[in-house]
Amino acid sequence: MTTVPEAEGPYLVCSGLFKIYKVADLEVVALRGLELSVDRGEVIAVVGASGSGKSTMLNILAGYDTPSAGTVRVGRFDLLHMTNKEVVEYRRQEVGFIWQETSRNLFPYLTAYENVELPMLLTGVPANTRRERSNELLEIVGLGHRRGHRPAQLSGGEQQRVAIAVALANRPPLLLADEPTGELDEETAAEVLDLLNNVNKELGTTIVIVTHDPAISTSVGRAIAIRDGKTSTETTRAVTFERAIGGETDEGEDRDVEEFLLVDSSGSVQIPREVLDQLAIRRRVRLGVTDGRVTLESGE
Ligand SMILES: Nc1ncnc2c1ncn2[C@@H]1O[C@H](COP(=O)(O)OP(=O)(O)OP(=O)(O)O)[C@@H](O)[C@H]1O
Ligand SMILES: [Mg+2]
Repeated sequence: MTTVPEAEGPYLVCSGLFKIYKVADLEVVALRGLELSVDRGEVIAVVGASGSGKSTMLNILAGYDTPSAGTVRVGRFDLLHMTNKEVVEYRRQEVGFIWQETSRNLFPYLTAYENVELPMLLTGVPANTRRERSNELLEIVGLGHRRGHRPAQLSGGEQQRVAIAVALANRPPLLLADEPTGELDEETAAEVLDLLNNVNKELGTTIVIVTHDPAISTSVGRAIAIRDGKTSTETTRAVTFERAIGGETDEGEDRDVEEFLLVDSSGSVQIPREVLDQLAIRRRVRLGVTDGRVTLESGE
């Protein structure tokens, strides 16, 4: 049994995820017990320093790589127990992927239109649906007037917008983007992020954006930080009703931003290094519970 009926609850769940790479005699632990849960229709950012395991996690979610241990479920797919046929189905139907390197997303000798049409040719979508959908997607990403251009005739930001259209061609419920703005200047990066938020509103696509840029967390509802292969903190940004109906949100205000430590399935939390240093916490702590509050103090 490789696919499971879609359970109630989150659309995407990673639990106790481990990835160990073996290079010669050395083992690199890229993920160590990562936990992640995303609801259908959410846009989240996964933020973390270089080498923290972001791409490793995203490649596993894309079906390009398999974890060493743990569970990963996306919709009705159990990613650890898929046959080769199901992996192909998963990659074609369930998930769209955007690589950080703009050049990796598009075929250089095909036009923007042909690039968007290609994934649909591979899944046998009829010609008139292909035409309609390619044109519609190029309109959504604001490049209807550039449909005949090849990647080299487009700017970096335009290429990433075409890449978004390509990733959405087969209407995947999940869009994964690895540093989609990494090669872009600030203004173009903001446009691409706006576009991703728009896609989420218009098509209901669940979107996971990986980035090392903490500023992105202000453009999404929820940002999860990865440290050393583990999800460690979560920042949520509540938009009040008045602000939501007013359209604009106030970037300068951080009243509604809250940061939480994440508790994994074994009950562990990661205490930030600065706090450990500040309180001279080393090997062990004394735990206190008073009035519904937990306190930790150094136990030397
Ligand atoms: N194919 C591989 N073989 C061996 N080690 C790997 C492999 N891929 C990644 N690693 C190691 O796993 C760790 C996590 O790498 P990963 O690419 O997931 O980091 P990242 O958070 O995406 O970093 P960046 O922000 O630089 O892209 C790193 O220490 C990296 O060296
Ligand atoms: Mg990476």
